[in-house]
Amino acid sequence: MDYQLLEAQVRALLSEERDELANMANFASFVYHEVPDLNWAGFYFAGRAGELVLGPFNGRPACTRLPAGRGVCGAAFMSKQTIVVDDVNAYTDHIVCDSASASEIALPLTDQSGEVYGVFDIDSPRTARFTPADAVGIGWLVRVLTERVPSRPSFLEHLVR
Ligand code: SME
Repeated sequence: MDYQLLEAQVRALLSEERDELANMANFASFVYHEVPDLNWAGFYFAGRAGELVLGPFNGRPACTRLPAGRGVCGAAFMSKQTIVVDDVNAYTDHIVCDSASASEIALPLTDQSGEVYGVFDIDSPRTARFTPADAVGIGWLVRVLTERVPSRPSFLEHLVR
């Protein structure tokens, strides 16, 4: 996978628009359609006390709220680290939103002061879909997004907690 090319493409895609929600919506669609073998890609945003609330995504309808610190997404949020799970069925704290998902990667969305305001989560129907090289490359893509969304987005003030 040529993540350098994808990085340049996503940078171009987001560069003309200043609205953060619009850019996040296009980012989720871009990843879903350009990275092969995915069945879901999208955002969860931190609500009250670390609960994660569904944001823009592509794929089948998903869980709207993930309890604080739970699931692959909660682990990425709490640890502020990218979490790769090769086999979600072997990961005890995995939260099943779509039974088609076999492997998963969740990346924290970090603001300029190091606070995490959400995660970007990707599911694949293929076991061990996300290699270390994928984690690095997808990290580049998420960094392009977080450069365009450098602090907790103001539209999250209206998040129903
Ligand atoms: N599986 C995730 C929940 C979100 S869905 O995959 C879209 C988790 O364990 O956090």
